[in-house]
Amino acid sequence: MILETTDLTKHFGGLKAVNGVNLRIAPAAIHSIIGPNGAGKTTLFNLITGAIKPAAGRVMFDGVDVTGWPAERLAKIRLARTFQRTSVFHDLSVLENIALAIRSREGISRSIWLTAGTERAIEAEACDILGRVRLRGREKDKAGALAHGNQRALDIAIGLALKPKLILMDEPLAGMSRGDRETIATLITALRDSLGVTIVVVEHDVAMVMRLSDRITVMQHGYVIADAPPAEIRDNEAVRKAYLHGSFAI
Ligand SMILES: Nc1ncnc2c1ncn2[C@@H]1O[C@H](COP(=O)(O)OP(=O)(O)O)[C@@H](O)[C@H]1O
Ligand SMILES: [Mg+2]
Repeated sequence: MILETTDLTKHFGGLKAVNGVNLRIAPAAIHSIIGPNGAGKTTLFNLITGAIKPAAGRVMFDGVDVTGWPAERLAKIRLARTFQRTSVFHDLSVLENIALAIRSREGISRSIWLTAGTERAIEAEACDILGRVRLRGREKDKAGALAHGNQRALDIAIGLALKPKLILMDEPLAGMSRGDRETIATLITALRDSLGVTIVVVEHDVAMVMRLSDRITVMQHGYVIADAPPAEIRDNEAVRKAYLHGSFAI
């Protein structure tokens, strides 16, 4: 397993937001986490990425105990996260956004004078990453001028610039048109297939999750109620009940 949580727990006062969650993510998998609103999905993500500290339990990534590690430290061992609100700098060009992420990965300050060779290497890598998210040809465009779907693709590209072994995506399809959702879903699959990146997705679009995922973890009231491949999740009685009581169809 590349990512594993053991009895991960976080309570807010009396509310058990995440309760003894044991997550097992296989390398190079697309693994989705779903569940009705308030199930604890975002809190689980926040616990894994160090945004909040667990009351109990452990997070293992690639054989290292990373429990409570902050995002910058996780990034150094190649665990990245994208955000629901994009981390794109709107006033910079598409290329500059990626170059910035590469520099930050390499610890190169913007003020440092770089050799032409280094600059070219950064630019070449940025172009390669942009090709992977199908943004070649848009290098010089202001990031803020991109359409919504392309901005989400750029956000994923910024995550990729960290050369992650695993990338956590927080509702990558949220607020997008059907066409854009298809584009991003295809992109996610392509990234896993071409780079072997493990992708963990929290997503509301259950139909898309069913198509995209190798495995699905379903949460309700802070607990994992099912963990199986999509076909089994679809037929799972507890999952159907959870969704009938919530606002989603499965
Ligand atoms: N910072 C917080 N303080 C208090 N309660 C919180 C906090 N964050 C989340 N919660 C509560 O924890 C539960 C799980 O929330 P969340 O992880 O956001 O669920 P999901 O992402 O599955 O919709 C909810 O009942 C939510 O209201
Ligand atoms: Mg949430």
